[in-house]
Amino acid sequence: MTVPAPAPRPVILDGDPGHDDAISFLLALASPEFRVLGLTTVFGNVGLERTTRNALIVRELSGVDVPLYAGADCPLVARRISAEAVHGKSGMDGPELPTPTRGAEAGHAARFITQQVRARPGEVTLVATGPLTNLALAFRFAPDIVPLVRAVVWMGGSTDTGNWTPAAEFNALADPHAAHIVFTSGVPLTMFGLNVTHQAIAHPARVQAFRDLGTRVGEFAAVLLEFFAEHHRERYGWDGGALHDPVTVAWLLRPELFVSRPMHVILDLTNGPCAGRTVADVWNVTGQPKNVEVVTGVDADGFFALLVERLGRYS
Ligand code: BDR
Ligand code: CA
Repeated sequence: MTVPAPAPRPVILDGDPGHDDAISFLLALASPEFRVLGLTTVFGNVGLERTTRNALIVRELSGVDVPLYAGADCPLVARRISAEAVHGKSGMDGPELPTPTRGAEAGHAARFITQQVRARPGEVTLVATGPLTNLALAFRFAPDIVPLVRAVVWMGGSTDTGNWTPAAEFNALADPHAAHIVFTSGVPLTMFGLNVTHQAIAHPARVQAFRDLGTRVGEFAAVLLEFFAEHHRERYGWDGGALHDPVTVAWLLRPELFVSRPMHVILDLTNGPCAGRTVADVWNVTGQPKNVEVVTGVDADGFFALLVERLGRYS
């Protein structure tokens, strides 16, 4: 008797591509375990126009026909920051970037998220790899959807040091008020902070494995990662970039590659030196309710093997 495969998990991929967002999108779009309902974009690494253009390029590269909606072009309250120093002027510097032949769908990302969650109560997982502004807007405009979301999986924050300030990680600092809304919403939330993504370094042998695929997607990923490595070499002295965003998707596919535990986590919304910090109660000193599943460890070899295998599915 053959056991039927479980139904694909409906997901929406919300991000600010971004080298690592692009690889995250490609990983999900190559994986039959998911039904990707759509891609949504947010300002972040660069402005919204560019992150959307980059997402359109990635969609066309994948050859998968999914809707794509642009969302927020600025944070809710904070001043806009950007990460051109890491991702280049285009937000995805390195490979030659073709002009996309198709544009984004009409309508706001937050509206799309709302409609999809309402249409599939309890089913939709929101995978966020940029500032949480689109999710926060959706949760504020349509609070009825919060209990209908299956899960939010977010790359952002850190249980220890930051990468944009000594205290704050980029996606958290880019819109701390949006993150606060999501963190206090009661939605099932899993956080992949720098404490885990800094364990997933795309060093040269791992980059070579993408190139060895001998495909357009493999080469695209390799060139992205080579560009991404430059900043990490200068700033941290590492032999490759930390492949932050795709760990979210990999965890949904292979949770056994990761270690996590629940914690109480809040955002620092003050304007001081710790602004945007995700303050994680690692030792449960407050005894406050644990609102976030915090990922603390990854089997980096297993993660990269999964990535190469999945990106190898593109012809
Ligand atoms: C996060 O910030 C962005 O630069 C990356 O795409 C990732 O989502 C890492 O701090
Ligand atoms: Ca990102």
